[in-house]
Amino acid sequence: MQAKDIRVSIGRKDILHGVNFRAQPGKVTAIIGPNGSGKSSLLKAMTGEHDYTGEITLNGQDIRTMRPWELASLRGVLPQAATVAFPYTVTEIVRMGQMGGLAGDDPTLPARALARVDLAGFGPRFYSDLSGGEQQRVQLARVLAQVWDPSVDGQPRWLFLDEPVASLDIAHQFTVLDVARDFALAGGGVVVVMHDLNLTAMFADNVTVMHQGRIAASGAPADTITRGLLQDVYGCSIGVSRAPGKDVPYLLPQMRDTGVA
Ligand SMILES: Nc1ncnc2c1ncn2[C@@H]1O[C@H](COP(=O)(O)OP(=O)(O)OP(=O)(O)O)[C@@H](O)[C@H]1O
Ligand SMILES: [Mg+2]
Repeated sequence: MQAKDIRVSIGRKDILHGVNFRAQPGKVTAIIGPNGSGKSSLLKAMTGEHDYTGEITLNGQDIRTMRPWELASLRGVLPQAATVAFPYTVTEIVRMGQMGGLAGDDPTLPARALARVDLAGFGPRFYSDLSGGEQQRVQLARVLAQVWDPSVDGQPRWLFLDEPVASLDIAHQFTVLDVARDFALAGGGVVVVMHDLNLTAMFADNVTVMHQGRIAASGAPADTITRGLLQDVYGCSIGVSRAPGKDVPYLLPQMRDTGVA
């Protein structure tokens, strides 16, 4: 997918100032950047939720020319915050995703999607009774049920995930990021907004860094998550090392101000 010269304004405020972004199927592409830098706004433009100027294509097609059902069959969206106002069960919510896409009517799909996010057996429970992290994983199961097959007739499908691990414990952060990686390995495309830079370095193939509504850098984790970036974009003096045995960047909070290269 590609976004060219994207500008978003809300009211009188310019939020994105000409953003160019690219994500490839088969890869996990992370978007990082400080609070308010425009990550969610870019995701919302790319998923058709925000008006924008510029051009956004998904599998080579301008999303403005696509019908809502075409978009729904091609990409699932996990918003940063999802509220559910009615007393739905977990299965009902996942089934809404299934019916929104073209994943078919297989009645076993919700249970399989729930098992994928470690919520086997949660189907009959009320969503409102679940913990925050459980609710977040139900929302991911809903998105998975919408675009269950990462590639259909050679055409990739896409996951757009806005901070999918934000309220998850460490084990479930891995569960969810494994889901994202498996989706990409099976030929789908994944665009994921992240804050945890170590997890990003571990899971992302490519990283785009946003800063004040613009792209500050993009490339491999080792080329983007650097000491200079942390200083320039986050205003934070933190050393960046290498993860043991791997060529990926690694940050430790106690490395603040130590001068480690
Ligand atoms: N509906 C809106 N009305 C006015 N300003 C908005 C609106 N939505 C976003 N903004 C502003 O646009 C900027 C970018 O917001 P956005 O939600 O894209 O940031 P973000 O990078 O996702 O941040 P976070 O890490 O906190 O989620 C912020 O300054 C925000 O206040
Ligand atoms: Mg956001």
